[in-house]
Amino acid sequence: MDYRKPAVFGENWSPSRYRVLPHFAAEQEVLARPDIRRILEIGCGNGWNMSRFAQDGHTAFGLDVVPERVALAVAHGPAMLGDGLRLPVGDGCLDMVYIQHVLHHIGDVERALAEVRRVLRPGGVLFLIETVEDNPIIHWGRRLYPKWRGDEINALFTFAGLAMMLSDAGFRVSRAGQYSILFWLWEVLPDLFPAMEKLTPTAVAVEERLQRVGRQFSAHCYFAATKEAWL
Ligand SMILES: C[S@@+](CC[C@H](N)C(=O)[O-])C[C@H]1O[C@@H](n2cnc3c(N)ncnc32)[C@H](O)[C@@H]1O
Repeated sequence: MDYRKPAVFGENWSPSRYRVLPHFAAEQEVLARPDIRRILEIGCGNGWNMSRFAQDGHTAFGLDVVPERVALAVAHGPAMLGDGLRLPVGDGCLDMVYIQHVLHHIGDVERALAEVRRVLRPGGVLFLIETVEDNPIIHWGRRLYPKWRGDEINALFTFAGLAMMLSDAGFRVSRAGQYSILFWLWEVLPDLFPAMEKLTPTAVAVEERLQRVGRQFSAHCYFAATKEAWL
């Protein structure tokens, strides 16, 4: 996969595509909190999220397990080579951990969440975005092609199952939602066939209608989850 794209947030996407990504509103709410300053993105890929966080005045660090991706991410901020299962970060150092479409690669979810809990301060927030099998396209797609653009898929999730995992790991979910039914295809198709980008407004309109009746079949979900002080 070409992890250089999008090098800048939104560079190769039309703005209308974002209308079907409701997690941005929830994310902005967390980022606006004055106590959220130090952010680690686990599985930062090309680092484009770090640019967004830095633009807002946050101190953002990235971590990825693939050296070539870390080399790209440093263009957006401090990034280190490392494994989400053994974070090279002290206990309670961070206000927020951001994980976008990475848990299904990491595989050992229990251990990954325990590491996130360890590095967050009490009251710190995990913002998690994942792909879920509630959507039949994802369900069958994962079985037919158990990789995402070359990277192994090592765990499969449902929205309800992820909520339970977060609770078991000592997080209290404050915001969560499912989104994107058709949109998953729209992440892929216009990148493969650029002329299809012209159809994006139509695809977004169809997606918004589908969500009104079938949100439970969505392909993606997000959680804003606070580290509980107990344990
Ligand atoms: C689908 S990409 C998502 C990249 C970025 N979060 C985004 O949404 O644009 C998954 C990323 O997770 C990284 N990754 C996979 N396993 C990891 C692990 N155990 N620790 C840290 N990063 C990992 C991969 O190298 C890849 O960059």
